[in-house]
Amino acid sequence: MRLANKVAVVTGGARGIGKAISELYAQEGATVIIWDLLDVGEETAAGIRKRGGKATFTKISVTDKAAIEVEAKRIFDTHGRLDILANNAGIVRDKSFLKMTEDEWDLVIDVNLKGVFLCTQICVPYMIQNKFGRIITASSTSGMRGNFGQANYSAAKAGIIGMTKTWAVELGKYGITANAIAPGYTVTDMTATIPEEISAGFAKQIPVRFLGEPMDIAQGYLFLGSPEARFVSGVCLNIDGGVAR
Ligand SMILES: NC(=O)c1ccc[n+]([C@@H]2O[C@H](COP(=O)([O-])OP(=O)(O)OC[C@H]3O[C@@H](n4cnc5c(N)ncnc54)[C@H](O)[C@@H]3O)[C@@H](O)[C@H]2O)c1
Repeated sequence: MRLANKVAVVTGGARGIGKAISELYAQEGATVIIWDLLDVGEETAAGIRKRGGKATFTKISVTDKAAIEVEAKRIFDTHGRLDILANNAGIVRDKSFLKMTEDEWDLVIDVNLKGVFLCTQICVPYMIQNKFGRIITASSTSGMRGNFGQANYSAAKAGIIGMTKTWAVELGKYGITANAIAPGYTVTDMTATIPEEISAGFAKQIPVRFLGEPMDIAQGYLFLGSPEARFVSGVCLNIDGGVAR
């Protein structure tokens, strides 16, 4: 019960890595609030409750500033705290650079970078009230070394690292730590469109020789979200089987 009495918001928690984070946080005693666009978030929360955990789902976009303000206030008014923000929601709109449209650029930056800015700026004042906060944000190996077809995504994920390091500097005095996690290839709906022969080829290039599972990534979110990680701030933790060396 490493997160007993903690209240955690997990964006993009309906499926994939976010679902694993939500389940692990709840298993460790946190009250989990899932923010996602997909209705399946209700099933994810219900599954957690069925196993004895505490979880609710709110259908919301991380880009909707007014709605996030309302929901964050509601969480604080209900629970008297907002301890952990797992900024996990993210999208891809891959296209080789010369073919990438302005809309594809804007959408990915809007969700993956500005959405994180908005959620964090709105939640942090509530963390400050209890002098405790854990911000953990999804970066990616693509943000560290680039990836074909992902100029928009790589820019957003690299931006996360810079923003995280700035938060670490600015917010540490309030008992708030800020860290990023850079997953390598992880088997989720996001990567499901990649043909199997290609993903099998990826696995051969990973030093540990297998693709990540959502729970592999969630374990990092657990550590960085826990009180034990109080002296860890401003880092980007690669969870990628040894790819980003
Ligand atoms: N899967 C990978 O290989 C991989 C690798 C590196 C980084 N990541 C990052 O990890 C995070 C989770 O990825 P995943 O593989 O689980 O993806 P996924 O597509 O399976 O899940 C992403 C979730 O985010 C939600 N979401 C998207 N836009 C949203 C919005 N505007 N508001 C609220 N929720 C929104 C989706 O509905 C979905 O439930 C993402 O930020 C992704 O960029 C994934």
